[in-house]
Amino acid sequence: MAYPANMPVWRCECGHYLDLEFRPVLLRENLHDYRSLSCCNSLWRYSCVLPLDNPAGVISFNEGLTPLVPADYKGVNFLAKMEFLLPSGSFKDRGSAVMISRCRELGVKEIAEDSSGNAACSIAAYCSKAAISSNIFMPAGNSSGKSIQARALGAKLHLVEGSREDCTEAAIKKAQESYYASHAWNPLFLHGTKTIIYEIVEQLGWRVPDYIFIPVGNGTLLIGISIGLREIMSAGIIDRMPKLIAVQSDRCAPLKDYFPDDYNIFMGNNSGKEVSPLAEGILVRKPIRIKQIIQAIRESGGGVVTVSDAEIKEALKAVFSRGLYIEPTSAAPVAALSKYKARLHGNETIVIPLTGSGMKTSEVISDLIK
Ligand SMILES: Cc1ncc(COP(=O)(O)O)c(C=O)c1O
Repeated sequence: MAYPANMPVWRCECGHYLDLEFRPVLLRENLHDYRSLSCCNSLWRYSCVLPLDNPAGVISFNEGLTPLVPADYKGVNFLAKMEFLLPSGSFKDRGSAVMISRCRELGVKEIAEDSSGNAACSIAAYCSKAAISSNIFMPAGNSSGKSIQARALGAKLHLVEGSREDCTEAAIKKAQESYYASHAWNPLFLHGTKTIIYEIVEQLGWRVPDYIFIPVGNGTLLIGISIGLREIMSAGIIDRMPKLIAVQSDRCAPLKDYFPDDYNIFMGNNSGKEVSPLAEGILVRKPIRIKQIIQAIRESGGGVVTVSDAEIKEALKAVFSRGLYIEPTSAAPVAALSKYKARLHGNETIVIPLTGSGMKTSEVISDLIK
């Protein structure tokens, strides 16, 4: 079913998630010159492809345009997209900036959201700036740094004893009396995360990389990248897709059931429990947009790699040794790179978004570096 864009609806009557009927085309000559406008030294440089009525009134910390920095792991070179430098410390700020700006345009006064942590911190920050009240449902066992940050930034925090799915259920219940600003359900969020690929393509001189390795839980980064790529392609700026490699924890890898074993799947050795302080951002057993995730991977000719906690730990330490303080979940795609090495020729351009800051997971990191 279709709904008007000015209706604050987050789910179809039939229970399905919604997508936006929005097909913007980027004309490079319409891009704001970031040298002359301070607000355009940010993702708002691409506001002509964002689904907002009033780009001048957005809720923004001038986020975006994160650096693309050369790095390497076990002899494989890659470009690290420094997403952990965003205002609340993760890539989620791209999605929140657009979604919460739209919430304000729609007159929303209170929201509910569930999150493993980073989306909570991000949405709390943007809601505070927008003077929107935020109710966040988070698993009780997740990094205390994230719950402290969300609370400090003004969220009403509800810690849920139970699984990630129990948090979703509690948030949806609360949303009956407010608005469900869910990063997983709300399509506005995906139009925010898509800005990362506009930046990457522009930073590479309007070229696509060969590969992007992406940590995948609910898939908001991967789906956003795929939406952006389709838009950039229909604008005639690029003529091929990079291969999207989805990276999951071998403790919780719902994607592996959809890709045959000989198709880029490499199982590690951590079977069983879906609990891991190392991969907390990607432990989503039932991503609601799983069909879109699968379609995006297939369309790109990419695949899926799973990694163990031991592999994440090793990759994390290597990233630290290069001076980059990221959270353990963000090291999963770096770990995946070394498993993928045999399939590479050595001359590919590979991008890895370093999705979250280590600052909020210092307790876990402190155990790792003992
Ligand atoms: C640091 C980090 N990386 C990656 C992800 C995965 O993002 P998504 O659930 O949108 O796939 C998350 C999710 O919370 C995260 O916190």
